[in-house]
Amino acid sequence: MTDVRIRPMTELDIEGICRVDEKITGRYRPEVWEQRAVYYIRRDPDSSHVADLDGRVVGFMLGEVRGGEFGLEEPTGWVEFFGVDPSAREKGIGRRLIDALLAHFRSRGAHVARTMVAAQDKEIAGFIAAMGFAPAPLTALEKRL
Ligand SMILES: CC(C)(COP(=O)(O)OP(=O)(O)OC[C@H]1O[C@@H](n2cnc3c(N)ncnc32)[C@H](O)[C@@H]1OP(=O)(O)O)[C@@H](O)C(=O)NCCC(=O)NCCS
Repeated sequence: MTDVRIRPMTELDIEGICRVDEKITGRYRPEVWEQRAVYYIRRDPDSSHVADLDGRVVGFMLGEVRGGEFGLEEPTGWVEFFGVDPSAREKGIGRRLIDALLAHFRSRGAHVARTMVAAQDKEIAGFIAAMGFAPAPLTALEKRL
């Protein structure tokens, strides 16, 4: 898919992201994506990216550089939300999106990227592993409230 353009996300992409998310999850969640997109654009307008096919959003990847969490002082690029339209998968769009995000993380001084994957999400785990991520020496803990 050479005509797919990877470019920074803007607020005009929120509707397109909602449509991709709806195809993946079966839920149309405009408020959720509005809040997320505005958060990331405000924090770092050039970080999060979308895949644009003739003006239609067919993929998105949201993340940012943060530091000082979990006792980790180094700036870390966090890969946080992503999805590719099921009709546009297995054509390298996910890889191009993460390449753009990681390049941006490097430009912001991060030497490491991190993400969290739910154990049952085999699809996401497969993609993340194919992108060169390996298990980290951190333990995810939770407490039900
Ligand atoms: C995971 C996802 C982003 C992959 O997108 P994609 O555009 O099809 O990925 P690519 O074509 O760029 O694939 C890149 C690599 O990942 C691998 N990969 C992709 N999907 C995979 C899967 N389901 N299982 C294992 N590996 C996978 C490919 O084999 C490829 O490896 P290669 O380049 O070494 O051959 C897409 O399947 C998706 O959006 N899944 C749903 C995500 C989701 O649920 N998001 C909501 C939570 S935030």
